[in-house]
Amino acid sequence: MEKYKKLIEAAIKAKSKALPTYSNFFVGAALLTNDDKIYTGCNIESSSYSLTICAERTAIFKAISEGERKFKAIAITGDTDDYISPCGACRQIISDLCGEIDVLLVNSKGDFITNKTSGLLPFAFGDDILRP
Ligand code: THU
Repeated sequence: MEKYKKLIEAAIKAKSKALPTYSNFFVGAALLTNDDKIYTGCNIESSSYSLTICAERTAIFKAISEGERKFKAIAITGDTDDYISPCGACRQIISDLCGEIDVLLVNSKGDFITNKTSGLLPFAFGDDILRP
């Protein structure tokens, strides 16, 4: 999709900033706000492995911390032949903080498929369950 070309390029660029000290698996993400701003993120690993943060959550937390609340799409890329698949924790955070957006899964060649949040996390736990 031509409309997401810039977003995909931003995710690929963000991947080069990753700090995957232990896994050597580079991931980049780029999040598009409703008013067309882009926030990027990469994975950052810790020697205490579980403290590692994924690229998607880096991008989302950066945007939220700058006051952004409404999003249209997120592009995620890794050095994978197949389209990258976001982890379960990131699916939950996308669902909670971004809502029903386009999720672009980009492979190492820059090809991508588009999904929706609910397609990646059907029957999601969320705000509506806590506050019916
Ligand atoms: N990773 C991401 O950044 N996003 C995902 O959706 C999957 C996994 C990172 C976390 C860790 O730094 C590395 O990839 C290997 O799991």
